[in-house]
Amino acid sequence: MEIREVGVVGCGLMGSGIAQVTATAGFPTLVVEASQELCDRGIENISKRLKRLVEKKSLSAEQQSAIQGRLRATTDLSKLSACDLVIEAILENLEVKNKLWRSLDGVLRPEAICASNTSSVSITQMMMATRRPERFLGMHFFNPVPVMELVELVKTLATDPEVYEAAVEFTRKLGKTPVHTFDRPGFIVNRLLVPYLLDAIRALEEGVGSITDIDRSMKLGCGHPMGPFILMDFIGLDTVYYIANVLFDEFREGRFAPPGLLKRLVVAGWLGRKSGKGFYDYSDPNAPKPLDQSVRL
Ligand code: CAA
Repeated sequence: MEIREVGVVGCGLMGSGIAQVTATAGFPTLVVEASQELCDRGIENISKRLKRLVEKKSLSAEQQSAIQGRLRATTDLSKLSACDLVIEAILENLEVKNKLWRSLDGVLRPEAICASNTSSVSITQMMMATRRPERFLGMHFFNPVPVMELVELVKTLATDPEVYEAAVEFTRKLGKTPVHTFDRPGFIVNRLLVPYLLDAIRALEEGVGSITDIDRSMKLGCGHPMGPFILMDFIGLDTVYYIANVLFDEFREGRFAPPGLLKRLVVAGWLGRKSGKGFYDYSDPNAPKPLDQSVRL
């Protein structure tokens, strides 16, 4: 079961990162987006990142053009019919995802493998929207995809061991490290990471330390690349909130319950870096300014 051609549905932050990595590893990659404008934007973002790598001399100009030559974008799902593996990286919404999977089921070859990059939607519920549950699994990449080495490979009750093995091999060819996990909310990373992030908010609410001092503590005291507030802003507060709710719905434990401050920030549209403001204000991207804690948060 060899994977030769790859399809990536969704070319936002995660999808464009995944497409960059698959094309860089030598796989012809077809990206599907909802409009031509989104196709152009996704491909443009990949080109910019590749250009930066050339400037840093991590990539030659020839390699850049070979990678770009392996990338194509379309708005037409039926063009995915030649792909051996399709990775979905669209909105985190079961209904929207299942609408896509139902359409893809009619387009893809019977032997094609289906993978979702979801961080929080049930893989089992998605596989049931197709007539090929045994060829379905989760492939969860991390942001920024070109940099982060891990891919969580999520097995369901139905995943064929040969399909799973093909995904393991493929992940290694991307230069990433696969870990084996099962279809449980949060898989491994978010099951452990999200309660830690939520606890940082509770520590802030209880006055244990300021945003800056809590971030500095975990960065310098534990060697984390980012403190919890900078990391939440980086992930997106709406995403953290969504995953926390999924975990809380499943486990009903206080450690997974999203704190009120997180909910208020999300409702206010302060979603972190992507909206310009979250726990920090990014008006000057080189010097993020923490929320004013002299007002009641
Ligand atoms: N895309 C591509 N490359 C990027 C990048 C991006 N968005 N951001 C940084 N990089 C690259 C830089 O080009 C640089 O590459 P070189 O070493 O080749 O020069 C390298 O990453 C380091 O970047 P910087 O020196 O600018 O900054 P840094 O050392 O602070 O690293 C970071 C940036 C890699 C993002 C680092 O801070 C980090 O690892 N942060 C933690 C990220 C993390 O935890 N991600 C997981 C989030 S959880 C998730 O994704 C799952 C989920 O379901 C929510």
